[in-house]
Amino acid sequence: MSFKILQNRLSRLTFLVLLTLSINFSQTIAQTAPATGADPAVLAKGKELFEGNCTACHAVHKVKVGPALKDVNKRRDITWIKKFVRNSTKVIKTEKDPYAVALYAKFNNTEMTSFPTFKDDEIESIVAYITSESANVPKEDNVAATTGGGEVKADKEDYSDLILVLTVITLVLVAITLIVFITVIRKYLKDREASLDEDDVEVVNQKFRLSVVLKSKLFIVCVILLFTCVAVRSCWVGLISIGVEQNYAPVQPIPFSHKLHAGDLKIDCGYCHTGVYRGKQANIPGVNICMNCHSQVKEGPRFGKDGIAKVIEHYQKNRPIQWVRVHNLPDLAYFNHSQHTVAGGIECVKCHGQIDSMEVVKQFSNLTMGWCINCHRETAVNGKDNAYYDRLLKVHDDKVAAGIRKGDMKVEHIGGLECSKCHY
Ligand code: HEC
Ligand code: HEC
Ligand code: HEC
Ligand code: HEC
Ligand code: HEC
Ligand code: HEC
Repeated sequence: MSFKILQNRLSRLTFLVLLTLSINFSQTIAQTAPATGADPAVLAKGKELFEGNCTACHAVHKVKVGPALKDVNKRRDITWIKKFVRNSTKVIKTEKDPYAVALYAKFNNTEMTSFPTFKDDEIESIVAYITSESANVPKEDNVAATTGGGEVKADKEDYSDLILVLTVITLVLVAITLIVFITVIRKYLKDREASLDEDDVEVVNQKFRLSVVLKSKLFIVCVILLFTCVAVRSCWVGLISIGVEQNYAPVQPIPFSHKLHAGDLKIDCGYCHTGVYRGKQANIPGVNICMNCHSQVKEGPRFGKDGIAKVIEHYQKNRPIQWVRVHNLPDLAYFNHSQHTVAGGIECVKCHGQIDSMEVVKQFSNLTMGWCINCHRETAVNGKDNAYYDRLLKVHDDKVAAGIRKGDMKVEHIGGLECSKCHY
């Protein structure tokens, strides 16, 4: 093998090693979280305080009433956190700290409870606990954050970080070795220039030029490959989320709980959503309806007087509560509640999931056209003591004669797939 070929191969190898190295390196920077070597006693105390005072509104990995506190120690310094936990209203309203004001607005002006009696070391222990939990991957179903099962150790991630670091070190060593090797060979050959043939002399005297590297096929192929991967991934992520907001669960201005009201207290959905059996809109209740009870009931199990005080304040100041809308069909589609809940006899659960066990309402179905159509294909028209249905059957007598048995008439057979039924 001539030196020219050898040199070429070596340079290519070095180049590849360097490329892998830089990719690996950027990943390492992005991924490695600093290890926390806190005292177990401090962590235990922090955990206790956190679970006793904060988990009503916060989790480490998940947004609840307040933000997810993962890595809060990196966003804010400890002095700020102490000030904020003791009296967030002061930081927001008196000091007008821009970060706090923005956060407050983002969480719909929800006020955090103040903890003026917390000592320095108590807040420090909470932050230490949050910091140590931040490194842990949350359990898949996220119950960990609320049930205290958050200690699942993230062995897997720690392990992969280690592998990454070792790979980087190995690659650095290989790269250095290769560079040294090339330099030494060149030097050795240069001393013996007289005995080499013309081709090899040229190689030995060749200077390193970036333009040659940039124009090399290998480099171009690598760059194209990298770009394609990034582009395909972002297209994919973008496409599957266009206009589809399944699981959307915005934070509401008042921590109203369906689990408490519809679940534990068994208040009928229609008591608050007054239109749901009567018209197109289900309606969100006004604060008057809340006051039917809350003129008497002034203390709740989770927020004490704080939660309900806000409801009463809205009532007294005659200010409507700005609930954040969860479900939203585009204007081009027509959906009518009573048609489904009364005529169709469909339970709320079918479309909205177990609302009566949700603390925060979450969009259960994806509300796409395919979702509506599928159900219209599969669901039989409701025939239970239903005058509306009898009338329909009459109108559709010919279709029944055409082979649709009684009880087997699906929504599709009464026009449930016609564009104009759902589109204006
Ligand atoms: C009543 C609900 C509630 C409770 C209880 C609560 N918080 Fe908060 N917290 C919030 C909200 C809401 C925010 C967002 C800022 C705002 O609107 O005031 C927040 C923000 C924060 C922030 C700033 C987060 C960031 O991303 O920078 C920290 C830190 C914090 N809380 C710590 C705590 C700690 C520690 C406790 C327990 C001792 C606690 N909170 C208890 C509701 C609460
Ligand atoms: C005590 C009054 C009350 C009762 C009872 C009640 N809700 Fe609600 N519901 C509300 C309020 C207030 C909101 C707006 C705040 C929110 O989204 O949490 C709401 C929101 C909703 C939403 C989301 C609306 C949107 O923005 O898209 C759905 C769906 C819903 N309720 C379904 C139900 C179902 C199903 C039941 C019965 C199991 C029920 N609700 C019982 C008061 C009530
Ligand atoms: C039919 C009666 C009734 C209606 C209507 C009602 N609530 Fe309640 N609500 C209660 C009761 C009872 C409690 C306290 C439960 C307990 O202490 O176990 C409560 C508790 C609460 C709490 C405190 C929760 C906690 O854990 O601290 C809030 C906030 C609340 N309601 C908001 C609302 C809002 C907003 C509305 C109107 C959309 C509303 N409620 C309508 C009966 C009602
Ligand atoms: C066939 C499916 C279906 C059933 C059954 C259903 N909903 Fe809905 N619901 C929807 C859709 C779709 C929307 C979004 C409507 C929109 O954006 O115009 C919605 C929106 C809502 C809203 C938001 C406010 C509004 O009026 O748009 C509330 C509240 C609600 N539903 C409550 C209920 C309750 C309570 C029941 C049971 C009594 C129920 N829904 C049964 C599909 C359903
Ligand atoms: C869980 C099943 C289900 C889902 C999901 C559903 N529907 Fe329906 N829909 C029905 C049933 C059942 C009827 C028949 C009601 C009756 O007996 O009149 C119906 C009837 C209708 C009708 C009247 C059809 C006619 O010919 O009279 C319209 C319009 C309609 N649905 C629109 C929608 C839209 C828009 C969506 C999606 C946003 C939707 N539906 C989602 C079950 C469903
Ligand atoms: C059962 C109800 C229903 C029927 C029948 C129906 N659609 Fe739709 N359609 C919807 C809903 C709901 C949406 C909105 C879906 C979304 O936002 O993802 C939609 C969305 C669309 C869109 C997309 C608009 C956009 O901005 O993305 C088009 C186009 C459309 N429908 C055409 C039709 C045509 C053509 C027919 C008749 C063959 C038809 N639809 C029948 C419910 C229906």
